[in-house]
Amino acid sequence: MMSNNTQYYTRTAQVLHWLMALIFIVAWIIGFYSGNFLSYDADGSFKGQVITLHKNIATTIIFLVAIRIFWRYTHPAPKLPDSMSPTMQKAAHAGHLILYMMLIAMPVTGCLYSWSAGHPAPVLYLFEIPRMVQDNPELLAVVKPLHVYLSWTVGLLIVGHVLAALKHHFIDRDHILRSMTQQPKD
Ligand code: HEM
Repeated sequence: MMSNNTQYYTRTAQVLHWLMALIFIVAWIIGFYSGNFLSYDADGSFKGQVITLHKNIATTIIFLVAIRIFWRYTHPAPKLPDSMSPTMQKAAHAGHLILYMMLIAMPVTGCLYSWSAGHPAPVLYLFEIPRMVQDNPELLAVVKPLHVYLSWTVGLLIVGHVLAALKHHFIDRDHILRSMTQQPKD
């Protein structure tokens, strides 16, 4: 594996990070809105359209995370600064690993949720991911709460991730946030 001698992520890694952050957060807000503020009783067709939008945006994460993991293996991340204790470096790496796992678990549980409820998993209103499970009430009873609880967990993780990045930038004044926004020559 190549090593990363700069303090910066590659441009490709940066674009993947910010693009996926945008898609993931927009998908999260739409899912949260539908799940907690819309009901089928009031205007069922509107809720249906909002859930369809949620799915069409969120399924793209599956494809992007595959590219992202490949890129991460072939282009190592910059080293964390020596000013961070070994314990904090380990905590940061563990946090990032969990975030990657969430990038997989959210769309996977979402697709299983839809399929087991008898609905499709559409991508950008262009095509559907081939259905991998049939209508299945027992599976639905597991993956539905799983998708919801994981979504709350990942919401907290993202808040922690953003607060950590801001703390590094404004309090520790190190290069960590810039490693995701700038290039060596910038
Ligand atoms: C990829 C990232 C995803 C994120 C961050 C995400 C997030 C969320 C959130 C926050 C909720 C609301 C939970 C609650 O009720 O409090 C939700 C609900 C839901 N999600 Fe996802 N989701 C993702 C992917 C998917 C995918 C790929 C599908 C299906 C193809 C899906 C299907 C659903 C469905 C059907 C609901 C229930 C909505 C409702 O009851 O109104 N999700 N999601």
